[in-house]
Amino acid sequence: MTINDIKHPKVKAWVEEVAKMCQPDDVYVCDGSQTEYDRLMKKMVDSGLGIPLKKRPNSVLFRSQPSDVARVENRTYIASKTKEAAGPTNNWIDPAELKKTMTGLYAGCMKGRTMYVIPFSMGPVGSDIAKIGIELTDSEYVVCNMDIMTRVGTKVLDVLGTNGEYVPCLHSVGKPLAKGESDNGQWPCADIDNKYISHFPEERTIWSYGSGYGGNALLGKKCFALRIASVIAKEEGWLAEHMLILKLTSPEGKVKYVTGAFPSACGKTNLAMLIPTIPGWKVETVGDDIAWMKFGKDGRLYAINPEAGFFGVAPGTNEQSNKSAMDSIRKDTIFTNCALTEDGDIWWEQIGYDAPGPLVDWKGNKWVQDKANKAQEPAAHPNARFTAIAKNCPAIAKEWDDPAGVPIDAILFGGRRPSTIPLVHQATSWNHGVFLGSIVGSEITAAALDLKAGTIRRDPFAMLPFCGYNMGEYFQHWINVGKKSTEDKLPKIFFVNWFRKTPEGKFAWPGYGDNSRVLAWIFDRCEGKDNAVKTQIGWMPKADALNLTGLDVSAEIMKDLLSVDVEGWKKEIADVRANHYPKFGDKLPKELMAEMEGLESRLNA
Ligand code: PEP
Ligand code: NA
Ligand code: MN
Repeated sequence: MTINDIKHPKVKAWVEEVAKMCQPDDVYVCDGSQTEYDRLMKKMVDSGLGIPLKKRPNSVLFRSQPSDVARVENRTYIASKTKEAAGPTNNWIDPAELKKTMTGLYAGCMKGRTMYVIPFSMGPVGSDIAKIGIELTDSEYVVCNMDIMTRVGTKVLDVLGTNGEYVPCLHSVGKPLAKGESDNGQWPCADIDNKYISHFPEERTIWSYGSGYGGNALLGKKCFALRIASVIAKEEGWLAEHMLILKLTSPEGKVKYVTGAFPSACGKTNLAMLIPTIPGWKVETVGDDIAWMKFGKDGRLYAINPEAGFFGVAPGTNEQSNKSAMDSIRKDTIFTNCALTEDGDIWWEQIGYDAPGPLVDWKGNKWVQDKANKAQEPAAHPNARFTAIAKNCPAIAKEWDDPAGVPIDAILFGGRRPSTIPLVHQATSWNHGVFLGSIVGSEITAAALDLKAGTIRRDPFAMLPFCGYNMGEYFQHWINVGKKSTEDKLPKIFFVNWFRKTPEGKFAWPGYGDNSRVLAWIFDRCEGKDNAVKTQIGWMPKADALNLTGLDVSAEIMKDLLSVDVEGWKKEIADVRANHYPKFGDKLPKELMAEMEGLESRLNA
């Protein structure tokens, strides 16, 4: 399609204006068809950028520049009108200044390339909870990934009509080509210094420059569905969260829907696709990274997964840790920075089997596994990714794309906490749950030299890198959401910790499929079962309330996992009081201060 197929005058004018600034050779409007996807993929394969995988139908491997392998949080900006609106946890630049800098970078930046116009919907096309975005990009890799991760195409333009709302998202790899020049099969983003992932919350606009990597370039995901959407959600009274959504079915066939916020690399995708070890239970996937939740007329919160695919971390994914993910990536998958086998398959660390011979590593060099060498550089980048179609996941719930969303019964919060935080406890009220969300964090290991081992890096609601406004106001928004309904209708809130360690430094809890034991207890809590005791920190499992049949964990360790570490919690509160809450100044809701003080006095009683 061409620019003349755009019937929305404002969109058309914006596309023309950007084309004038970036000066691409052509402008092409994406229809989201398979033919289009195949043609762009073939273009990348023909150029040498993409490597088709003989072992996986319709799947292609890409290798990025070594400097363009992850989200760049220090180059990510919330350019609100005031610094205070961005808050203490975001990078801020004055929007006028940032636009000036970036306009300079964008000038002529698409020369020698095609500018693609990607009309996309976050959420089922036409759903009340869904939102439309339009991404302009000069990267075919971005178009194909957006095709998998979102709903792209003509039907989105139809819903948009002539005056519908949309979020403009501008992206460039930042590498114009001279006449006759080509990328020569190289990932174009080699400039480490000039990367900008910018958000203009008042204008609900995103400008990204200089990176081709997932979270920096697939602008529907973190930039729109979390940072910009969190701003919209605050204004409109709903929640845009960094959460998985799962469907939990009991042996009796009863269903609960659960969301969970965990910082990056805490296993959200694995939890969303978990295969229970306790008989009769079933977990199905609605989403693995983002949840948009709105109140229904019945006063309950309904969640949709605004995405249409999974952008998962590859290393560590195997038949044991996540069989459903392994099944999701057998075909139709984009792999990025994985290693390549001689027979045309991918490989990565902890894929579950040894490298089947010499490999080409993620940097494009020959790599031979040397198991005796513990310091060997990995063959796949630790943040290597797969981009997989949600519908290809065998665990996908039938209602995963229901425009009405699914009613949420429970919200989980968690992080990597080797000590203090028990395996599971339940908040006694919504505000208590918001308090727990606000103190989420992961413990710093001795490996991070610049930070003191044993200190907690707080990642409230797992939203630290993704909240598009002042985090203190975000806490207040959560408190306010609780006032829109009643405790019996609001989801119950739980704090879980799969990452406790024994004094010997081993994981105390096996995790993965055995987390179903905790989910089953949570299910029963939602059913109102008498399976909990009230402690200083909240509701915890009664003795024998957790199904431990067939579990290989000693009684002593189980006791540790399920008891209140009073001294540990006192230190926790002291850290929140001294180091965490002061960051938010007078934006910290008084309700959270009250929750903290209530907990403190219960611990001291
Ligand atoms: C990303 O980096 O694009 C991404 C999905 O991030 P994360 O895995 O940290 O959520
Ligand atoms: Na799609
Ligand atoms: Mn994430």
